[in-house]
Parts: sequence; C-alpha cells; structure tokens
Amino acid sequence: MLYNNHITVRFRGIMSEMNSPPKKVTELLNGVYPAFAMLAGLQLDVFTPLSQRPFSPQQLAQHLQVDPPRLSRLLFALTQAGLLTWDGDCFAATAETAVYLNRQHPRYMAGLADFFSFVWQEVVPHTAATICSGQPQARRDFADMPLVELERFMHILHPGALAAGRLLADQHDFSRYRTLLDVGGGSGGLALALVERFPELQTAVLDYPHVTAISQQFIQDAPIQTIAADFLHDAVPGSYDAIIMKAFTQTLAETAVALALKKAFALLNPGGDLFIQAAILDDGRTAPAWTVQFDLVLLNSYENGRAYTESEYRQWLTRAGFVSIERPDPSLIIAHKAA
Ligand SMILES: C[S@@+](CC[C@H](N)C(=O)[O-])C[C@H]1O[C@@H](n2cnc3c(N)ncnc32)[C@H](O)[C@@H]1O
Repeated sequence: MLYNNHITVRFRGIMSEMNSPPKKVTELLNGVYPAFAMLAGLQLDVFTPLSQRPFSPQQLAQHLQVDPPRLSRLLFALTQAGLLTWDGDCFAATAETAVYLNRQHPRYMAGLADFFSFVWQEVVPHTAATICSGQPQARRDFADMPLVELERFMHILHPGALAAGRLLADQHDFSRYRTLLDVGGGSGGLALALVERFPELQTAVLDYPHVTAISQQFIQDAPIQTIAADFLHDAVPGSYDAIIMKAFTQTLAETAVALALKKAFALLNPGGDLFIQAAILDDGRTAPAWTVQFDLVLLNSYENGRAYTESEYRQWLTRAGFVSIERPDPSLIIAHKAA
C-alpha cells in the first residue's frame, strides 16, 4: 500500500514536471496484450474458419468445440487488435489475417504460434536475470544439449527455415550453382525448400552429429546429403559453389565467426557466393528495430552469440578474402569469392 502510494506520488510529480501522460510507457505495457491474444487465436486456429466465412461466436465455438462465452471475449480482443472484424452478429478475418494466419492459404505463416510462445514465455522473460547472473538463462549449447530439447527446438525452427528457404529461392537464382552447403543447417528446412525449387542443386546440410540425426528425420527421402561435423574444428569434405549460414553466426563468439567465414572462403569454389542470413545490426546499433529487439533473444540463449553489425561482418569477410559484399535486405549479406 505504502509502495503504491509512493508510486502515485512520484508519478504525479513526474506528470506535472512533464505535463503529459507517459504515452510510450503505457503504449508498451498495453502492447503486450494484443500480441498474446493473437497467439491464443493462432493456437485455437480461429483465423482459418473465419477466412472462409463469417461466424457468430456460438457457431465458431461449436466449430472449435470450445466454450462460447470465453471464446467470444478473445474474439473481441482480436477485433480490437485489428485482426478480425465484427459486424454486430458475426466475426470475420481481415484481408491480412485471411492470407497470413489462414492455414489453408499458400502464404500461411506456419509455425508462428510455436516459435513465439517459446520465445515469449521461455526466453525473453529472463533478460534481467541473464544480465544479473552473466549467464544466458535460456541457454542453448548445441554441442551439448539433451536430445529431447534439441528435437523440440528443431521442430520449432523448421517452419521458419522452410519459409526462409522459399523466400531465398524466390529472390535469388540458385540454378547458377551446382553445389551448395548449408552450414548449421539444423532441421534441413532451408535446404528442403531450395531443392524443391532447384532439383538439380547438389545440396548438403552440415551440423553436429546429434543434430544431423534429427535433420535426417525432416529430410527423409529428399536428395540432400548430411555432413555430421563441427564446422569450426573438423575437416569438411567437398567444395561448393554456394554456402549458406542461416541463424548460425549469431550463435557464435566473434573469434568463431571470423574463423567460420575463413573456412567458408576455403570451401567455396572460385566464383562462389556466401549467403549469411542473420540478425544483422546497422552500424549505429539502433536499427533495424526487429534486430535490436531480437538481440535480447540471443542474449538469453547463447553464451557468446549476438547480433553483429554490418561493419563487423564486412571486416571479417574482407579479411577472409571475400569481395563484392552486399546487404540486399536487412537480414542478409552476400559475399563473393573472386573467380
Ligand atoms: C539457431 S540454429 C539454426 C538452424 C537452422 N539454420 C535454422 O535456421 O533453422 C543454429 C545451428 O547451428 C548449429 N551449429 C552451431 N555451431 C556449430 C558448429 N560449430 N558446427 C556445426 N553446427 C553448428 C547448431 O547445431 C544449430 O543447428
């Protein structure tokens, strides 16, 4: 009670000093709720039926086999958040949710609920404790991680890896490469998407042996080789026209990134390209907004990993021998090995 009074008094003091309400603070505090409402909507899959036709709360509750009054409160929260519409009788999906949150649409963002419920509930809440203890409280040490945890993590990452591979295939012509290596390829989702689009591409996924055992479950009969190795310390067979590192460098310490990029240079054929897809910061470190915030996920997850800046990548790449270094989108750097 005393504490509450203290806050009220202090708050009044600040208000009168600033002569305006704490807009940004309340915006951020309240901004959490719509995001969690969306998560619940995804977990219940309300957007798919509401993309086909409008439903009254009772009809939708019957369709989903849940309690109507409770569901209807979520539907109003989703409407307030701008994710549904309400005409007084029925709810419907919006133009955006009918595409991206509708399971039956080809552009459905699969895996969002699993990824964000994991990150929001198991990773970012630990930020203060991670900073106080100096240890990542949602630590992921891929070299030494219980198999069950690793399998769960790869299932969480897989839909995003597939989607990233499809986007990469839309935006870059991989038919000009004959051989490709996905370093730290995890589930193999990115490689799967690339061979789906470029069946001639001879593709290999490299990861720790206990991870490639899991990749094989995802890859199954697809024509993708797995290489079980520690990329930093083991000899890697073959030479490649293209190498991809997705969400790999951001898990490593600076010295390890520099080493990995040197190794990639050595494994590339002359004329080959390295694709680094990662949380890449602008040099001022305050943008892109998503990357600055996502660095907290990395802070809580990895002993030494982090979002590195574009300049840091450029330095390491130049030292490794790469030329024509480009950043065609905020999360992608492409570097070339001269022919
Ligand atoms: C965050 S996961 C990303 C997985 C995948 N690229 C994706 O985006 O879904 C990082 C991956 O890098 C792998 N990795 C980290 N250090 C490695 C090393 N030294 N050698 C091989 N793989 C490594 C991990 O095992 C893990 O699969």
